[in-house]
Amino acid sequence: MTSLWKIVSFIVATYTIAVVISDPQLSVFQKACSNYDATNPVVFRANRNKTLSNLRLQLSSNDGIHFAISQQPIQPDPVYAMFQCRNYLNSSDCLACFDSAETQIRSYCPLDGGARVFYDGCFLRYESIGFVDQILVSDNFRLCGNNVISQETTFARTVDELLSDIIAATPKINGYFAASSREVGGGTIAYAVAQCPERISPTACNGCLLAAYEKINSCVPQSEGRASDHGCFLRYSNSTFFNGYKETDLSLFLKGGGSSKTFIGAMVGGLAFLLFVAVFTLWFQFLRRKPAKEGDILVATELRGPMNYRYNDLVSAAKKFSEQNKLGEGGFGDVYKGTLTNGKVIAVKKLAIWKSIRAKADFESEVKLISNVHHRNLSRLLGYCSKRQELLLVYEYMANTSLDKFLFGDRCGTLNWKQRFDIIVGTARGLAYLHEEFHVCIIHRDIKSSNILLDDHFQPRIADFGLARLLPEDQTHINTRFAGTLGYTAPEYVINGQLSSRVDTYSYGVVVLEIISGRRSNDLQLEPFTEYLLELAWRLHEEDKLMDLVDRSLDINEYNTDEMKKGIGIALLCTQSSVARPSMSEVVSLLTSKGFSDYRPTRPTFIDPNTRVPNDSSNSPVSSNATIAITEASGR
Ligand SMILES: *[C@@H]1O[C@H](CO)[C@@H](O)[C@H](O)[C@H]1NC(C)=O
Ligand SMILES: *[C@@H]1O[C@H](CO)[C@@H](O)[C@H](O)[C@H]1NC(C)=O
Ligand SMILES: *[C@@H]1O[C@H](CO)[C@@H](O)[C@H](O)[C@H]1NC(C)=O
Repeated sequence: MTSLWKIVSFIVATYTIAVVISDPQLSVFQKACSNYDATNPVVFRANRNKTLSNLRLQLSSNDGIHFAISQQPIQPDPVYAMFQCRNYLNSSDCLACFDSAETQIRSYCPLDGGARVFYDGCFLRYESIGFVDQILVSDNFRLCGNNVISQETTFARTVDELLSDIIAATPKINGYFAASSREVGGGTIAYAVAQCPERISPTACNGCLLAAYEKINSCVPQSEGRASDHGCFLRYSNSTFFNGYKETDLSLFLKGGGSSKTFIGAMVGGLAFLLFVAVFTLWFQFLRRKPAKEGDILVATELRGPMNYRYNDLVSAAKKFSEQNKLGEGGFGDVYKGTLTNGKVIAVKKLAIWKSIRAKADFESEVKLISNVHHRNLSRLLGYCSKRQELLLVYEYMANTSLDKFLFGDRCGTLNWKQRFDIIVGTARGLAYLHEEFHVCIIHRDIKSSNILLDDHFQPRIADFGLARLLPEDQTHINTRFAGTLGYTAPEYVINGQLSSRVDTYSYGVVVLEIISGRRSNDLQLEPFTEYLLELAWRLHEEDKLMDLVDRSLDINEYNTDEMKKGIGIALLCTQSSVARPSMSEVVSLLTSKGFSDYRPTRPTFIDPNTRVPNDSSNSPVSSNATIAITEASGR
């Protein structure tokens, strides 16, 4: 039951080819099982049920998505699942394909191990090993039709050109899907589609499609061919199978237009190299594999790892950490702007918590973990440097600084409603990723508007995630300078140190209220009532005057009242008592689903955000003479 055994059996997994029946989208093209068995079938099945129902929730609550992943990392049998459907299916057909695939996949494999089901319309897979970033290109397969077409040579040439073009274009297309057709002559038309899973890199997409091309090539001149390699899919036919779907203009993605055999030749050469690299890295992983908790194999980013910068390079990049280069002071240390000799602009964080950090070895493995987190709403950790008593972290630089500057600072009132709503949704997505999609659940613990950076297009990037993990467990919640900022921090965490992902949900709700109202959470308003932002929001909710909360600098013609009320309603759901708070993926679903629901949140406990928790740590953060003022919920 070692992980090595799991991997070996995973690779020799058996494939069986199923019959293709007439309905093109819901016929099973292929099914396969992975030959390992779960350590604890009860845990495994519960995890599997959760990932499958989460996939379905994502599909049914987001119109127009064609790709979803989900994971339940609960040991000893975590489950990772992925679903993909062809972009020419509309949402209801995509969901129908999922439902059919789910029924198939549940009943197909005898062991409690991984399974995959391939349909013409979609693909579903789960494993107890993370596979979404996988670049393995060795177990692909094909299925050919059994009718040779009449204009053999012209058809073969046309299909070959069409496939070459579609393979070259797909990795460059956002969403990795292309559909196209080409005239053969004599009334015959060749149709083709290509698709890759959205999480892999363009290079991996290219490699996967090339492996599929090698297979499908031998189907021509049959009238039909399909090939697949894990998530990527390639299909051609002499009859249309994506009726009514807008074809991709391939010429936009092809250099110099037209197809070229030499291009494919070069790429097949590249594929051989990629295979070599894959085999080599796999071997390398076997040799040095530790009993790691994540169990991911062949994750490309893990091999690259964070960059170890030279101390002197960072000192000169940040002009000796001069005052002019200082960008801000965060809970974990000061941040400086720096310019490397190659012209790249970076942000360098000088960690002020060196003495609290458990051990240096720990530091490096945590940094490695954080640098593996890639999501468009999370700030990228590029590398680090540790020298004697100094620890430096290097991040991408964000020219638009942080959200607080746009809400209350020198640029206040400059964000319109659309930009604010994008920030609300993006931040929720980033947190949902940290909590539920990354292979380790990372709780941020210090979500606040100054920790949300804005990129050039005002899309949010959450900063400082993972750093709270560097602190010893029993200290984090006591020292608010390091984890948690009063006014944003959930009451159960401040008072009892109870940590769960719902702590971030609470802080997120407070940030949403700040975004909508343009008011700081810990500014005390005196007139007409003495109250903090959260108290104000709950009072207005109870008096049914929610719209009074909205920032006056927002253009009233620009937003829709229902959307605004929905935003406030969701923020209030997030600040309820911890058991009643939604998870961040539920928040994403609520925000992105259409229509308005009348939320009935329940009033929480309030904490006075200006009361300080003592900084010196005794073991129990709240003794009988606690200095935290708690206003118990009154009435209702
Ligand atoms: C998983 O779901 C199936 C079908 O919905 C159900 O029969 C089974 O009891 C569930 N198992 C667990 C462990 O939740
Ligand atoms: C989706 O497409 C199918 C045909 O493929 C059609 O029958 C169905 O009505 C469509 N559904 C929606 C909601 O547009
Ligand atoms: C595709 O080719 C097969 C085999 O030659 C033929 O029977 C079928 O009618 C063709 N379909 C179309 C739409 O031309």
